[in-house]
Amino acid sequence: MSLADERLPIAKPVPLQTSSARLSAVWLGARSPRDGDQDVARAVRNVFPRQPAAVRINREHHLLITDALAQRGMTQILDLGCGYPAHGQYGTPGPLLSQNTHEVVQRRWHAASVTYVDNDPDVVNARRTEIAAAASQTRTRTLVADITDTVDLLEQLMRDAAVTHDRPVVVLAHDVFPWIPDDDAVRRCAASLREWLPPGSALSVTHATADMTPTWIQRLTGVYAEAGLSFRPRGRGFITDLFGDWEDLYGGPVRVIPTARHQPGHHESKAPDFHSAGYAGVAIKPSP
Ligand SMILES: C[S@@+](CC[C@H](N)C(=O)[O-])C[C@H]1O[C@@H](n2cnc3c(N)ncnc32)[C@H](O)[C@@H]1O
Repeated sequence: MSLADERLPIAKPVPLQTSSARLSAVWLGARSPRDGDQDVARAVRNVFPRQPAAVRINREHHLLITDALAQRGMTQILDLGCGYPAHGQYGTPGPLLSQNTHEVVQRRWHAASVTYVDNDPDVVNARRTEIAAAASQTRTRTLVADITDTVDLLEQLMRDAAVTHDRPVVVLAHDVFPWIPDDDAVRRCAASLREWLPPGSALSVTHATADMTPTWIQRLTGVYAEAGLSFRPRGRGFITDLFGDWEDLYGGPVRVIPTARHQPGHHESKAPDFHSAGYAGVAIKPSP
C-alpha cells in the first residue's frame, strides 16, 4: 500500500448482514458463526423475548401438518421459503425439530417428491449440498425462485417436472409471506397458486401477526427494519383471504387460528395464544 492510500479515510465498517433464514436457524438452535446474526438475535430477544419460542412453535407445526397431509396420501410437496436444512451449517441440534420436510414425507411415502423453493442463494446451496450428500434423494430438489414472480416459479416447476398436474399438490407457505412487505404481491402469489393447483391440493400457511401483542410486535418490526429486514406481520382477515374460497382441511370455512392450536399433537397446543405470535390455516381446493 502506498502512503497516498494510507491517507484515504478508513472505510466505515459495513453493517453485518443477517437474513430471515439465518435468524430462523438461530432460533431453532443453530450456532451461527456470523456476528451479524447474533447481534440481531440479541436485539430481537430484548424487545420480544418470546420470538425464539414462536419460531419453534411454527417449526413444530410445519412438521406436524406435513406429516398429517402425507398421511392423507399427499405425495407432491412444494415447500416455499423453505429456509436452511435441518442438519446443515445452520442446522438445529434439537431432536424434535431436526427433521426436513422430505424426511417427514418420504418416511410415509418413499417415492414422494419434495421441491424446496427459496430466493436466498445461500439457502438453496445449503439445501442442494445436503440433498446431494444423500444418494437416494432423487425425488427431492431445490429451486431458486422469488415466489412473488409466480410466472417464473410455475415455469420452473413445469420445466423440471418437479410438480405434475395429475395429482394433488401440497403447498407449504410457512413463515415466508411476512418477509414479503408488498400486500398485493402476497395476494397475487396466493391467488396464482390457487388457480394453478389441481383440485384436492392443499395450501398451508403460517403467518406472523401483531393481533395478540401489538406493542411487542411493533418493536420487533423496528429491530428487523434496523437490520435491513422487511418484516410485515398481518391480521387474521388478510391471512384468511389468502385461501380464497377453498375449504378447511377438516371441512367448512377455513379456520385461521393461533399456530400452536392448529394441530392437537402440538407440544404447545395449550399455551396462551400470544406464544404463537402467528396464525396457521390449511385449506383444500374443491373440485369444480
Ligand atoms: C423465516 S424463514 C422460514 C423457513 C421455514 N419456512 C420455516 O417455516 O421454518 C423465511 C424464508 O423465506 C425465504 N423468502 C423470503 N422471501 C422470499 C421470496 N420472495 N421468495 C422465496 N423465498 C423467500 C427466506 O429466504 C427464508 O429462507
